[in-house]
Amino acid sequence: MQTIRVETPSAKYDVVAGSGLIGSLAPRMERVYGKLPRRVFVLTSAPIWGLWGQAFLNSFAAPPIAMFLPPGEEHKTIKNVEALLRQMAQAGGDRGSLLIAFGGGIVGDVGGFAASIFMRGIPYIQVPSTFLAQVDSSVGGKTGVNLPEGKNLVGSFYHPLAVFADIEVLGTLPDRELRAGLMESVKAGIIRDRALVRYMEGHTDEVLGRDPKSLEKVIAASIRMKADVVNRDERESGLRMILNFGHTVGHALEQATQYKLLLHGEAVGWGMVAALFVARERGTISRAQFDRLEDLIHLYGPLPALKLRVPKVVAATSGDKKNVGGVTRFVLPVGIGDAGVVEDVSAAELEAAVEYMLGRAGEKRS
Ligand SMILES: NC(=O)c1ccc[n+]([C@@H]2O[C@H](COP(=O)([O-])OP(=O)(O)OC[C@H]3O[C@@H](n4cnc5c(N)ncnc54)[C@H](O)[C@@H]3O)[C@@H](O)[C@H]2O)c1
Ligand SMILES: [Zn+2]
Repeated sequence: MQTIRVETPSAKYDVVAGSGLIGSLAPRMERVYGKLPRRVFVLTSAPIWGLWGQAFLNSFAAPPIAMFLPPGEEHKTIKNVEALLRQMAQAGGDRGSLLIAFGGGIVGDVGGFAASIFMRGIPYIQVPSTFLAQVDSSVGGKTGVNLPEGKNLVGSFYHPLAVFADIEVLGTLPDRELRAGLMESVKAGIIRDRALVRYMEGHTDEVLGRDPKSLEKVIAASIRMKADVVNRDERESGLRMILNFGHTVGHALEQATQYKLLLHGEAVGWGMVAALFVARERGTISRAQFDRLEDLIHLYGPLPALKLRVPKVVAATSGDKKNVGGVTRFVLPVGIGDAGVVEDVSAAELEAAVEYMLGRAGEKRS
């Protein structure tokens, strides 16, 4: 079990990662919260609750009030947040209530956002149940929902009181979800942790075989990387932007495929290939490093094949939300374990990178 500390100007809390936390949640929560309040809500979704609800409830003297969000990105809406807020109000929720978000990144983002606005903000705890949620979305305090106009356009910075990431719970996660989530760990290694890159290269079978010790190692290192970046730049005014490595083109691919073909991590996997290509052409990484890192991405694949045209992806890239004033921000690795943000990637560089990536993605991979 490993404990990683988040300490920003607005919040200080522990992220605990280890096997078997699910059976002892209540006492663990009491250690951070004090005696649990009369109204404890748990937001989850029916499939997760069906698999893990019993284990979750085990340690609670009084069961929390369960609320459900249907699985799927299309349910990450203001409308559903309102429905949850009303359920909480009707069940007697007040300022002293506690909310637990038990699920993947969708449940975490929606739960965190609801907690941030119910009665102007009540405490919440994250119990992430997907790999992606454990290494990424549950840490750092970004919450929110989608609008028809775009993803994550509404939300808040609102940190949890604690995060309990149970590796055992990943046992029921579909393989594709695991591999996609692992792309965020590949990202973590490339931008800030050489040792993690080396470990993931050398332990592919153990990690993909869900060996608990290996998973714990990768998860804890990824959380440590994210926590360290968030601690230095909570509001994404500088350093935190490096977490978007692979995401500029990744978001474009998600958008160009109507969020239907690719899981987020898969899009980021292809996006990293494109960004690595730009870095190679600029010489911030060597050809040998490029080959090594592209191989690492495919070790944790297969990434889905793509049938897209270059101009469509390039156009979608220019429309990314993270762009300010029309400038395409790009995170480029510098060697292995370091990265920087540039704003001067030319149309020709971007086209060449997308062309290379689509070439690789057109080969039979999946
Ligand atoms: N707040 C942030 O900083 C941040 C960062 C990255 C991503 N996100 C958000 O996270 C969301 C994606 O999260 P995700 O990848 O966890 O997807 P998800 O929440 O959709 O979960 C993926 C699927 O796995 C199922 N599932 C969850 N846990 C399971 C388990 N233990 N066993 C079996 N099935 C399980 C879910 O029901 C769902 O069908 C997106 O909405 C994205 O915008 C937020
Ligand atoms: Zn991501």
